[in-house]
Amino acid sequence: MPIDKERTIDCYNTLAPFYSFFRKITHRYDNEIMPFVLDVLEPSNGEAVLDAGTGPGIYAIKIAERAERADVYGIDLSPKFLELARKNALEAGFNGRIKFMAADLEDLPFGEDRFDKLVCAGAMEAVPDKERAASELYRVLKRGGRAVIIEPNRGKSIRDRAYLFMLYGLGLVNPKLRGFSAKDIPKYYFNQGSFYDLFKGAGFRAVRIFERAGSFCAVCLK
Ligand SMILES: C[S@@+](CC[C@H](N)C(=O)[O-])C[C@H]1O[C@@H](n2cnc3c(N)ncnc32)[C@H](O)[C@@H]1O
Repeated sequence: MPIDKERTIDCYNTLAPFYSFFRKITHRYDNEIMPFVLDVLEPSNGEAVLDAGTGPGIYAIKIAERAERADVYGIDLSPKFLELARKNALEAGFNGRIKFMAADLEDLPFGEDRFDKLVCAGAMEAVPDKERAASELYRVLKRGGRAVIIEPNRGKSIRDRAYLFMLYGLGLVNPKLRGFSAKDIPKYYFNQGSFYDLFKGAGFRAVRIFERAGSFCAVCLK
């Protein structure tokens, strides 16, 4: 079954409150991945940084904390997730300073060479045209810019199994999602080789794949 966009939005709107709670209790993941992302990106004041597929805004908020005068954007397809991201940013003391916007990874509403750095975590798996999304990330990044793109190495970590379990359960909460994911999720799997090829094919001059907390992290230089 092809990944349908309306269904994806419905899925993520339904998932948002559960996922947000789940992120708060899975500290180990953030303890390992967040320092890695911040070390690689080194966000600095004056830089423009994008969190693509921001979800509850965790990366955007940490980046804004690290570089108080960075120009931070978070985009997401799901209005419900954006609502949570704005609420979380407000609670973290960033009232309006992080710009959260509705946008599709396949068609980013930014000009070329707009961002110095970007992170995209856990969002590529849901995008129907992954090559197009990878090209969009490449396009909006400045020459010399840095990107970290993260996707779970499916079934490897307990956290990921719990996440899949949550996706399987969405049909219980939202009848329109009955049957979602049970047979589709395996198609979302990346492996180290396909993940590398995706970003190398988009034009990045250097791509390195790391594994952290059961996830593949592609560090890409434009
Ligand atoms: C698993 S969550 C990850 C959220 C966040 N990056 C994190 O690590 O906590 C995936 C997010 O990607 C968003 N997403 C999925 N497809 C998208 C697309 N085509 N464009 C923008 N966002 C998308 C979903 O709405 C959801 O918020």
